[in-house]
Amino acid sequence: MKYPLAMRIIHWTMALLIFGQLAAGAWMVRMDDAVPAKFEHFYPWHKCAGMVVLILVLVRYVVRRGSRLPPAPSVFARWERLLSTAAHGALYLLMLFVPLMGYSMSSSFTQSDGVYFFGILLPELLPKNDQHFEVFQLVHRWSAYSLLALVVLHVLGALKHRLFDRARGGDVLPRMM
Ligand code: HEM
Ligand code: HEM
Repeated sequence: MKYPLAMRIIHWTMALLIFGQLAAGAWMVRMDDAVPAKFEHFYPWHKCAGMVVLILVLVRYVVRRGSRLPPAPSVFARWERLLSTAAHGALYLLMLFVPLMGYSMSSSFTQSDGVYFFGILLPELLPKNDQHFEVFQLVHRWSAYSLLALVVLHVLGALKHRLFDRARGGDVLPRMM
């Protein structure tokens, strides 16, 4: 049994978006401030794509709640079931938390150009306060890199099942393809 088509489409769309966000985010903060593309293109598009992630994770959660999901393969040990459930839960929390912290950071920063969603200026989430901004900036950074670490663990888990549990019917990759 596979995951429903809608969940498979959202899974791979979000995976691409999140990898792009992690790479572009890490790249843009290290760019020289004098490069015009930094604040004219990279920052606005990072914020806009991040808001798409925020919307998609909410849609994904609703779709998940309304779907029949494939049960864990019977060959999985108890610890494997627990670890994958915990990892999926933590991935959902971070997919929500990371963009929310980005939005909070951009809203509280006094020098921010605002958050544009495909040309529409979104409302500020919080009052301007540069001390709060610094906290959100730190939390956004570290939660984003924690998300990366968890995704690495998630992919290693999927590879482990494919390489070592395939013969016993424990490969989970085809369920998401
Ligand atoms: C899943 C979604 C997102 C991911 C994975 C992500 C990831 C990142 C990463 C890795 C960085 C670089 C951190 C560093 O090394 O200092 C960054 C920076 C940044 N992000 Fe995001 N981000 C996301 C969503 C958002 C959203 C929704 C916003 C705002 C609406 C946002 C605003 C920013 C800003 C303004 C910076 C630059 C901060 C600075 O100049 O220090 N991000 N992001
Ligand atoms: C940013 C990247 C990724 C995130 C945030 C992510 C997140 C998730 C989440 C939350 C689930 C649980 C099902 C759901 O509710 O959608 C899942 C399932 C799955 N993911 Fe990912 N994923 C990512 C990338 C990948 C990659 C690159 C692979 C390829 C190896 C992969 C393979 C799978 C598989 C095989 C499942 C099904 C697991 C099962 O049947 O128990 N994911 N993913």
